[in-house]
Amino acid sequence: MNKEITIYYEEYEHWSSLSGQEQGMIEKAYQMCETAYAPYSKFHVGATVLLSNGTIVSGNNQENIAYPSGLCAERVALFYVGANHPKEQIDTIVVVAKGDLVPEDKLLSPCGGCRQVMLESEMRQEKNIRVVLVNQIGKTIVFHSIKDLVPFAFGL
Ligand code: THU
Repeated sequence: MNKEITIYYEEYEHWSSLSGQEQGMIEKAYQMCETAYAPYSKFHVGATVLLSNGTIVSGNNQENIAYPSGLCAERVALFYVGANHPKEQIDTIVVVAKGDLVPEDKLLSPCGGCRQVMLESEMRQEKNIRVVLVNQIGKTIVFHSIKDLVPFAFGL
């Protein structure tokens, strides 16, 4: 029998349609791209995370000459939350990318490893996490749960 999965997401021409708080998170995520350490890929990624107490935590990708030793922006931010705000729920994560090799109209979608970590954050808190992805010309997509990014996820 053939089956089908439906994934829901919102799409906007520009992030100015989002709330003021999320617009601020997007601006901060782009600021974080400036301090990404990405001399090898030249792919600068910024992530901001909104916690339920209103705290905003941000991260960016950190590379290493021994390539697998680096870490993606999303995981830098999420692991900081796990270490420093373990009792707070995560409300939203914003992810953006820029750099010489990133086309302006390219909308970054988190890698599989980051999706798996985001999923576990969502499972631990038993509350959906909103995922906001933006490209450099403003196009925006919003997911209402990490589960929409990881169908048939590994886990119990
Ligand atoms: N990267 C991220 O920061 N997040 C992702 O979801 C995908 C990739 C980083 C890792 C590496 O520093 C660079 O982008 C190129 O893969």
